Amino acid sequence: MNWYQKLGLKYPIFQGGMAWASNSELVAAVSNTGALGIIGSGGRSAKQLQIMIQRTRQLTQHPFGVNLMLLAPNIQELVKIVCQEKVAIVTTGAGNPIKYFPQLKATGIKVFPVVPNVKIAQKMLQFPINGLIAEGIEAGGHIGTETTFTLIPQIAAISDLPVLAAGGIYDYWDYQAATVLGAAGIQAGTIFLAARECQIASNYQQLLCQSSNPGTMLAKTSTGYWARVLKNPGQSSTNRSLKAAVEDGDLENGAFMAGQVADRITQIEPVVKIINRLVHAN
Ligand SMILES: Cc1cc2nc3c(=O)[nH]c(=O)nc-3n(C[C@H](O)[C@H](O)[C@H](O)COP(=O)(O)O)c2cc1C
Repeated sequence: MNWYQKLGLKYPIFQGGMAWASNSELVAAVSNTGALGIIGSGGRSAKQLQIMIQRTRQLTQHPFGVNLMLLAPNIQELVKIVCQEKVAIVTTGAGNPIKYFPQLKATGIKVFPVVPNVKIAQKMLQFPINGLIAEGIEAGGHIGTETTFTLIPQIAAISDLPVLAAGGIYDYWDYQAATVLGAAGIQAGTIFLAARECQIASNYQQLLCQSSNPGTMLAKTSTGYWARVLKNPGQSSTNRSLKAAVEDGDLENGAFMAGQVADRITQIEPVVKIINRLVHAN
């Protein structure tokens, strides 16, 4: 049995946790295909997260995960909920998970930190993690400085644990390219924003379908961090937020986060079709 079968997965494919955007319906639809759906907990209260976890459980019997943004002010409460609910897998971003390992490990939760460079990967490898997600600058959302293409071989070279490639993955060929570079699987986010089951504002999905190269740019968001967003909306705003884009489709103040693969997205499709494009050559 290989690493992902041991986790109860059919494919080594994670749908990356996306604050506000990866809702229970999307997560369950992904997990039902045999890939891993991941709830985004960023911005949520502990109670909201618990409701999302319980709703996801009603929609799938398969394993799913929760993404924890470690700089969240309520992170201790969120960790408590994922432990209480015995979530199978946690991915972590924006901070150091060291404080939370005793709790997460005591509950048997598998931990996959998202890392933007080799230095942070080396640091994470000193902890009892189960794998790494190496995310390149092509990705949507808050990002580092390295490209997926250069990052994967370097992190794969220092890790005995599975390394998943994130950033720039659209189809089977990207997935295979990442594998050739040393990845044991992939994580994708942007392609799932265009899933029928993803309940973001409809104009967000239309903008994704209309995006053409070069359709994304880096912008400072209301969190104070840089993120990759779709180019046109909200250009003059100094207060762009992802929540405003996801929930209200707010063209003035929304941060319509998306990776460079947005330029390849042309239509809204069911999750099953998106996964099929990843696992089959067409
Ligand atoms: C709208 C959006 C929101 C995201 N939110 C988060 C988040 O809350 N936490 C996180 O670790 N990564 C977040 N990401 C990154 C994804 O989990 C994933 O790693 C990334 O999208 C992969 O690159 P891709 O966009 O090229 O597929 C987000 C990405 C997008 C597009």
